[in-house]
Amino acid sequence: MRTITLSVNGEDLTVTVEPRESLADVLRERLDLTGTHLGCEHGVCGACTIEVDGKATRACLILAVMAEGRRITTIEGLRDDPVAAVLRRHFHEQHALQCGFCTPGMLIMARDLLNRSTPSSEKDVREGLAGQMCRCTGYAGIVRAVLAAADETTSTRSPTP
Ligand code: FES
Ligand code: FES
Repeated sequence: MRTITLSVNGEDLTVTVEPRESLADVLRERLDLTGTHLGCEHGVCGACTIEVDGKATRACLILAVMAEGRRITTIEGLRDDPVAAVLRRHFHEQHALQCGFCTPGMLIMARDLLNRSTPSSEKDVREGLAGQMCRCTGYAGIVRAVLAAADETTSTRSPTP
């Protein structure tokens, strides 16, 4: 076992993990942050998407020991985030979820997209979320929701290159 320290949703934590454990497993099983979902567990579906040092990242592809000293943000850490709040409202209004399994990862990736660009077309959104899989919605509601959120937040965001 290894003891690591990391920041999770703004809180400095020390946790003992097995060297083979993924960060996704540690978030879910040891820290009870079950908003990070696990689908494929090999980097394809995007359900496990979190932020590591501010970058959207697949939590199933990182060993927890690699997260030593890193700043982790999960969907639970975005409760008070203004862009995430706008996205959640539009996801609700546009029926952008059904079972909700993909939704935490989808929201994190959509927020990442909005924070680094201003998607203005369906093509922009579909390309930006191409790594996120949804088995229920057919994506149309998701695209509408992200475009509506982009429109609403354009004046308040500062996209980074
Ligand atoms: S569970 Fe990580 S990408 Fe599918
Ligand atoms: S809402 Fe069910 S997988 Fe996306």
